This record gives sequence, C-alpha cells and structure tokens, in this order.
Amino acid sequence: PITAKVNDRGHLEIGACDVTELVKQFGSPLYIMDEHSIRTACSQYRDGLKDHYQGESLVIYASKALNCLALCALVNSEGLGIDVASGGELYTALQAGVDPEKIYFHGNNKSVAELEQAIECGCTIVADNWLELKTLASFNANHAPKVMLRITPGIECHTHEYIRTGHLDSKFGFDPNQVPEVLDFLTKTSNLDFVGVHAHIGSQIFERQPHQDLAGVLVKWLKAAQELGLPARELNVGGGLGIRYTEADDPPSITEWTSAVAKAVTMACEQLQVSLPKLICEPGRSLVGNTGITAYTVGARKEVPEIRTYIAVDGGMSDNARPITYQAEYRSMLGNKMSETATETVTVAGKHCESGDILIQSASLPKTVSGDTLVITSTGAYGYSMASNYNRLLRPGMVLVYKGTADMMVERETYEDLIAQDKFPERLKTVDN
Ligand code: LLP
Repeated sequence: PITAKVNDRGHLEIGACDVTELVKQFGSPLYIMDEHSIRTACSQYRDGLKDHYQGESLVIYASKALNCLALCALVNSEGLGIDVASGGELYTALQAGVDPEKIYFHGNNKSVAELEQAIECGCTIVADNWLELKTLASFNANHAPKVMLRITPGIECHTHEYIRTGHLDSKFGFDPNQVPEVLDFLTKTSNLDFVGVHAHIGSQIFERQPHQDLAGVLVKWLKAAQELGLPARELNVGGGLGIRYTEADDPPSITEWTSAVAKAVTMACEQLQVSLPKLICEPGRSLVGNTGITAYTVGARKEVPEIRTYIAVDGGMSDNARPITYQAEYRSMLGNKMSETATETVTVAGKHCESGDILIQSASLPKTVSGDTLVITSTGAYGYSMASNYNRLLRPGMVLVYKGTADMMVERETYEDLIAQDKFPERLKTVDN
C-alpha cells in the first residue's frame, strides 16, 4: 500500500522522498508516514462500509495506534471520526479540530477528570463498567451525555494473548450477565443519552468469522435495549483487522473486511427485525500500520563465530516496543542499497542496555556497513504511540511525506526535553562529601 519506489541512485523513496536524504535532513532514527496511503486506507474503510451497508455508517480511527495533531487532522479531513482512549488522546483530537460529534471515548478506568472533559466537549463516552456509569449519571450535566455500552462479547479469536479482548475474562466491558441490569438502570436514568452498543474482540486478527459472529451478538443486545424503550441506534464492532508485517501474514483486505462486517450486521438485523443502526467500526493498525516505516542508521557490528552476526541500529525497543513485548516480527531493507542483493543474514539489534532489545531476529540484507540506512517497514501503528525514553534515548521525529514534500509531524526530542520535567531539589545542589 505504501507509495514506494527505488530511484536511480538505488535508494528507497517513499512519497517521492529519498529516505536516505530524509534521515540526513531530519535526523536518525526517523518515523516516515506516507500521506497517500493513509488517505487510501481511510477511503477504503469509508467507502467499504458505504458500499455494502444501506444504513448510516461511520469509521472512527482508533488513535491509540498513532496519535498526534497532524494525523488526527488528516484522518478527520477524510471524514473519519476518532476513537480516543485517554484524556490526552481526547485533548489532542480536540486541538486538531476534530468535531466531538465524531469522537468516541474508550477506557476501562476513566478518571473523574476525564469524564468531565468528555462531557464538556460533548463526545460519546463508551461506558465500560458500573463505576463509570454511576459516576456519569451522578454528574447531572445540563445536557445528557451520550453513552455507549461496551460489552464483553465472549468471542475468542486467534491473536497474541496480550491483545485479545473479546473473551469473557477480559478486563474490558460489561460481562454479558450484567447487561440486563445495566439496561434496566438506563431505562430509569433520564440524564444519560444511551446511543448504542460496542464490543472490541482483539487486534491483529486475520479471520473474518469472529467479527461476523460479533455482529449477531451486538444486534441482539441492541434489540434488547430497544425493546425496553431505550433509544439505542448505534452499533460499534470495534477494530482489530490485522495487517501484513511479514510474508507469513495473510489478512483480508480492508474492502473484504468491511463488506463482511456490513453484510453480517445487515443479515442479523433482518433476522431479528431490527431497523439498521448506525454502523461504526474503529480500526487502528490497519489504517496506519502499513503506511509508515522507521529509518535507522546502522552502527556497530558483532560477529559471534558460527552463531550469528549482530548489526546494531541507533534506536530499538524505545521506538518500537512490539518485538520485545509481543515477539512481533518485521521486515527490513537497506534504504541506500536497494539494488544490491541480499548476501547475509543478520540479527538487527537496538542500542538499549538489554539483551532482549532485538528488532529483527533474522534479516536477509546486502553486506551492511556502518552508516547504511536500515529501514523497518510497517511500523506506522503502535510504534511511536508506545515509544519511551528508556535509557534516556530521544524519541525520534516523524515526517509526513507526499509527492516529494516532507513535513514534520512530530519534532525529534532534545536533551532539554528530557530534563524538562525533572526537578532539582535545592538541597541536592551542593554536595558535601
Ligand atoms: N477499539 C478498541 C476499543 C481497542 O481497544 C482497540 C485496540 C482498537 C479499537 C483498535 O484495534 P486495531 O484495529 O488497531 O487492532 N499495542 C498492541 C495493540 C493493542 C490494541 C489495543 N486496542 C500492538 O502493538 O499490537
């Protein structure tokens, strides 16, 4: 999906920008996001629902995958809404000019301050548990907050256990057993505007069946709510469509996924005689994952005779926590040697003080020397958003490329940024030995 090509210098170009030149200009490591492919993914989702669903539909971008002002604004300009999972993500979306009508606020432990922030702006709050629901009802806000109910659907899917959320012992959402009581509560609570039901079953999912099953479960809950006279009118199937990180991954396309979901919801509504709700889905990874790369500079090399060769790059688990957290696999290439054939297999290591800081266990690359540009692909989702300052490394900058132009989206951090929040107690400033 990314708009990539090799130029006549044998360099990788993204969005008609030479990646090796970008690193020289903006520093290394560097996150590079391709505007054209983000817009393409947005329109595939948007049109995918529109083309296969007769009712109203809305795609909301799960901004936990990558949240910053420019990206919120970009996605918003494509007509998508935004899913936020904290006061910070909400703040960023609002600052980017996103209409609160299209913002949905998630989270299993929203603070009172976050709930107030959400009510004040008028976004929809996806209520996760009793405490939250009762807190919302007790605010007695002058306009009834829009509330959606997150239900644990009890649907299993095949993905890493850390990112599975649909099974019954997940920490998210109301247990199905609690739902009748919750609906009853909502019928008696006039100061909440109950808009509909939501579930999210997990992430990096390659099967279509779990989301199709989910559609049936959600329509049932919607009907139950409507039968009690509640104005439930929205059905949100969450996100979760997987992407291709390596050749081994074979996810459905966005278009295949949206049509499967739209059809499943339509069918369930026909069967249960429910009028078509506003259909919402909230993809994160599949909107931005394949649209971004990380460019690093190669440094030290270590050959362990007969075992392996390490090449080290100038970043690692602080800019991409996924390999160490989920054993996630990635592909790489040498951005400045695209015309050379692979001659060696190396382990790509980060620069952190931690043996597990390995970005790729086994990468086939042309002969690599210090100074080469190593590109890891498909890092657009959950890379920057999960980045840290471990070992006080500076978080990389991020640029948005389009038709030969590169614009800064996130400035590279500086050492001053690192100590900006540090406090230096007076009594520690003079040291008596
Ligand atoms: N909606 C809700 C309520 C979610 O919790 C999530 C992801 C999404 C939507 C978007 O899911 P996606 O389309 O991106 O699969 N850090 C992990 C992924 C955690 C996903 C958490 N929730 C990773 O790097 O693989």
